[in-house]
Amino acid sequence: MWASRRRPGRTYHTRARSSTLLHLCLVVGALECGSAADPSVPQQATLRQLAEARHLLVGAAVAMNAYNADTQYRATLVAQYGCLVPGNVMKFDQIHPSPTQYDFANADELVRFAQANRMVIHGHTLVWYLSLPAWITGGTFTKAQLLQVLEDHITTVVGRYRGRIASWDVVNEVVDGTAAPLRSSLWLQVIGPEYIDSAFVWAHRADPAAKLYLNDTHAEGVNRKSDALLALVQGLRSRGIPIDGVGFEAHLTLTPPPPTADDLRANLARFANAGFDVRISEMDVRIADTADASALLAEATVYRNALDACLRLGSRCTGFTTWGFTDRYGWIPSAYPGFGRALPLDEHYEPKPAYQALIARLQEP
Ligand code: G3I
Repeated sequence: MWASRRRPGRTYHTRARSSTLLHLCLVVGALECGSAADPSVPQQATLRQLAEARHLLVGAAVAMNAYNADTQYRATLVAQYGCLVPGNVMKFDQIHPSPTQYDFANADELVRFAQANRMVIHGHTLVWYLSLPAWITGGTFTKAQLLQVLEDHITTVVGRYRGRIASWDVVNEVVDGTAAPLRSSLWLQVIGPEYIDSAFVWAHRADPAAKLYLNDTHAEGVNRKSDALLALVQGLRSRGIPIDGVGFEAHLTLTPPPPTADDLRANLARFANAGFDVRISEMDVRIADTADASALLAEATVYRNALDACLRLGSRCTGFTTWGFTDRYGWIPSAYPGFGRALPLDEHYEPKPAYQALIARLQEP
């Protein structure tokens, strides 16, 4: 059986706003940041500086095409973010394109870059129902054969980055959210629910120090899906499976409205109170191309609410990651034509109200 690796949980409520000293540190920190650059020009502290001052990892998913092509993309990434999440290059189809071939080139480059810039790396993702190579989706596997494929994949990928990747999305988007508890997938159909347990066990064996997450979407508020998600991870924990936390993707919209601030706080707190670390793992807030500037202000409020819900949990909230960071590159316009402007920086890398809202919240107790 897997012994719990977490300290006894504590109950989280709205955290007292008592850290005046922390606030002074932030102000001093910001001034120091400014004086370090050019004393004549007050420099605004970056997301990374403010977050690291309060021991929070603020991260961004990285698009390899942008990383390879755009020096400002790489410079902004390092300046603003302390955590790097490979957006696609560690997915099954990209890193394991054929049964006997792994392609680590892009993943190795992002790991190298992150380490060179003192960034923490969160691996994404070992088991998902999407982004699978043809040799998996088109294959005919017995349960034993697919279990062996999955064990080899996880052991090889996690083992390669042992000691360099701090945490992983082990399984991604497995809760169905309707009557069925689990999303139908090749993994579920051929192996059964045990594929989830096994994935965590294999990841832990490959790197015992890595923190292991189950990551899901549309479970940011208290709803049927987050109820099922909580039951799932509590079941894993009760069977001694080495799971450390839950990622809440937070791909949000203005219409339909996002979870309210209270709903976000209540939901994340109940996972923390159940003994799980939580992370906002893929946040973006898509806006209609036709929307006016007021939508940018509404977007800022959504970002602030999510960061606030995280910060109120203290060390139980282990990360706040956006799915990209500049509107110049993003998955939204191709996935949702007519929508975009989902990220904290605009297409010219200029701060949007969302960015300023994150900065402001990080400067509050
Ligand atoms: O790299 C190839 C390129 O060589 C090829 O020319 C091109 C055209 O076919 O495709 C490129 O791969 C694409 C990849 O993004 C990189 O751009 C894939 O087709 C495309 O499916 C993939 O989409 C990604 C999607 O996950 C599926 O993996 C999105 O960028 C990515 O933002 C999105 O992210 C997911 C998270 O992993 C999980 N949570 C939901 C989130 C949004 O869907």
